[in-house]
Amino acid sequence: MKLIDARKDHYRKLAHEEGYRSRSSYKLKELHKSYRIIGAGHYVLDLGCAPGGWTQVAVQLAGNQGKVMGVDISYVEEIPGAHIIKSDISDISVTEEILSFFGRKINTVICDLSPQVSGNWSVDHSKQISLNYTAAKIMDQVLEKNGNALFKIFDGEYSNEFYDYIRKKFAKTKLKKPKVSRKQSSELYCTCLGYRN
Ligand SMILES: C[S@@+](CC[C@H](N)C(=O)[O-])C[C@H]1O[C@@H](n2cnc3c(N)ncnc32)[C@H](O)[C@@H]1O
Repeated sequence: MKLIDARKDHYRKLAHEEGYRSRSSYKLKELHKSYRIIGAGHYVLDLGCAPGGWTQVAVQLAGNQGKVMGVDISYVEEIPGAHIIKSDISDISVTEEILSFFGRKINTVICDLSPQVSGNWSVDHSKQISLNYTAAKIMDQVLEKNGNALFKIFDGEYSNEFYDYIRKKFAKTKLKKPKVSRKQSSELYCTCLGYRN
């Protein structure tokens, strides 16, 4: 997107006005409005959380009784109400850290993971799907029965395979491109409700 187009971008402006760190916040809000992914009091894990737009929304939805943790390989400025750790999700100690923070299994896992894009779509796509499998392994260890999840999926050669893999783990799944996503973007979001465990 050209800088001049970005300036005009409605959600980017709105995020700035409403104090969200990214326009992505509105993707989570839109998906939540359709599927009620995060409830009041939920314990929520946000994988790939920088700069923190989804984490901010998760804190609002989970409320005072909830608990929110964000994980990213990049530094994230503190977010009131959330615990942030700077880690690679493929690091084996991450799951332990997650469970020790929450102290029990959790209600929701949200993943907006993207690799550093190279511009080569098939490379970026396979890296993104591979991040999702890593996230799903963490999810399998931390999500409680009937819990919910949300995954971003770069649409391409391996997206159906990932969708089939994740779909079997939940009572209900939905694939959707939110209106907030840019037209030229090939990302989809998979909302997963009712973890079978
Ligand atoms: C699109 S951004 C997330 C935006 C975020 N949902 C928001 O609303 O602000 C994707 C994030 O995935 C993170 N990421 C990519 N690979 C990762 C890894 N192996 N471990 C942890 N985070 C990773 C990136 O650093 C990047 O910040």
